[in-house]
Amino acid sequence: MRDLHCHLLYGVDDGSKSIEQTKELLRQAYESGITDIMFTPHYISDSRFVSNKASNLEIIKPIIKFAKEQYNINVFLGNEVFITEEMMSLYKNREISTLNDSRYMLFEIPMCNKLNNLKSIIFDLTSNGIIPILAHPERYVSYYKDFDFFYDLKNMGVLLQINYASLLGAYGSKAKKMAKKLLKLNLIDFVGSDIHTPHDDKYINAKKAMRIIKKLVDEDEFIAITENNFAKVIYDEEI
Ligand SMILES: [Fe+2]
Repeated sequence: MRDLHCHLLYGVDDGSKSIEQTKELLRQAYESGITDIMFTPHYISDSRFVSNKASNLEIIKPIIKFAKEQYNINVFLGNEVFITEEMMSLYKNREISTLNDSRYMLFEIPMCNKLNNLKSIIFDLTSNGIIPILAHPERYVSYYKDFDFFYDLKNMGVLLQINYASLLGAYGSKAKKMAKKLLKLNLIDFVGSDIHTPHDDKYINAKKAMRIIKKLVDEDEFIAITENNFAKVIYDEEI
């Protein structure tokens, strides 16, 4: 399995707090058979989570080396960007990072309210060559069971990443139902852990969640969302 979304870059957001925690999380990932991890620290404008690309690269460099040597895990850098009208200018100013410098950008939207300008922001991204990936679509309360909304996003060129722990009830019963339904409708393109600390059991439970996904989608789709689409992001190929 390849993890498209996590908070293992220490000291920059509400995820890992230290190099020791990051190393422990890498150990847990290794134990669960995870081979590739995209580090996606939060970037939330007007908050304390605004660590820029240059400083994130400095922190991640020795971790990339450690993960490869110790566990043969490939580590990459991206961001989980909280949606804002400034996304394109933040990208152009190298404040935020796409996933491994590809055309793919992971973003999140508010948990409980709808934005009037959501589609215009997405259009701004896609018309500039960015392919947006919405993090954890199953978790947004305002779009619970609003499948038309997710079909609209997909028609606009947005890809979707579920938190696999949603299938184990980590975010409540509604998120669990949504995750299952989105998978059954073949709307999901990626899985991620969204793990924050070594006390999360998300890596420990990864295999359990993969078994559930396997029952919900066909074999080709399973390989695409757990392995191949991640590889296409890394090589900046079309999905
Ligand atoms: Fe996240």
